[in-house]
Amino acid sequence: MLETFDLLKKFDALTAIENLSFKIEKGEMVGLVGPDGAGKTTLMRILSAIMAPTSGTGTVAGFDIVKEAEKLKAKIGYMPQRFGLYEDLTVQENLDFFSEVYQLSKDTKKEKYEEVFRFSQLEPFKNFLAGNLSGGMKQKLALSCVLLHTPEILLLDEPTRGVDPISRRDFWSILFEQQKRGMTIFISTSYMDEAERCQKVAFLDQGRLIAYEPPLQLKQRMKGVLFELVSEKSREARSFLEKDEEVMNVSLFGEKVHFTLKDEKILEGLKVKLLNAGIEILSLNKIEPSLEDIFISLKQAGEED
Ligand SMILES: Nc1ncnc2c1ncn2[C@@H]1O[C@H](COP(=O)(O)OP(=O)(O)OP(=O)(O)O)[C@@H](O)[C@H]1O
Ligand SMILES: [Mg+2]
Repeated sequence: MLETFDLLKKFDALTAIENLSFKIEKGEMVGLVGPDGAGKTTLMRILSAIMAPTSGTGTVAGFDIVKEAEKLKAKIGYMPQRFGLYEDLTVQENLDFFSEVYQLSKDTKKEKYEEVFRFSQLEPFKNFLAGNLSGGMKQKLALSCVLLHTPEILLLDEPTRGVDPISRRDFWSILFEQQKRGMTIFISTSYMDEAERCQKVAFLDQGRLIAYEPPLQLKQRMKGVLFELVSEKSREARSFLEKDEEVMNVSLFGEKVHFTLKDEKILEGLKVKLLNAGIEILSLNKIEPSLEDIFISLKQAGEED
């Protein structure tokens, strides 16, 4: 359904996408993750034929991303990071507008409206101005708009950023339903729980794809046991742990220090060392790795290689 070869995108001196080759099979749901500025939006734009790569090639839904841009756009449902709903139009008027753009027939329109209202549950709000909807409802309406022309693949750029947890769950149940019907989905997200629901996770860092595999496999690649230390002297704790040879990865998340140990048994000795160095421990617990933890671990493993 989607394949790229050596995609490269430069903005003057900055390389936003670097020699990226990957593919997505029909019916797969793939999550795209990476820190701010990693190149997620740039990649989505190139795949949606909104922006041309500097070099490299690719196809989406069977069409070339450069040479067949218009045909490609007719086959995809692209939801940009800031989707352009018409806030001064009602929910129904937004749907009508997109139906016009896609030139849907009267019958198709009727069928499609029923379908999107069924899963979005927006029918009771159809005469509300889009601008007055909640964040979660706006995103459901945006998704409805990009589904009207029955695309073969969805390219969704952080559709749930800043959306409350209940609405996120609703949004995802729509995605699962779409997938069940054979839809291919490529979705960027900064939420670990969302990435975990995908068949594969693509990790982008400074334009490079540093991992592309099932989420469980990614987690297992995280070596050692992860701990979270809370201390009023978190910066000192970080420097101290970085110097200790038994400690593997160390990173600071605000007031919390995350670090990994090869073996849980060395924790007690480490606690004593911290206290002797004058670093008071408010709490110290074993934790499940977050996306950031895995990311840091992968980056450090890459640098060591
Ligand atoms: N039109 C542009 N002109 C110049 N530089 C750009 C342009 N678009 C993106 N960039 C740069 O390319 C890099 C990748 O940006 P991009 O928006 O693709 O990242 P992102 O992963 O989507 O980030 P975020 O999580 O903040 O949405 C950044 O360094 C950004 O500043
Ligand atoms: Mg982005």
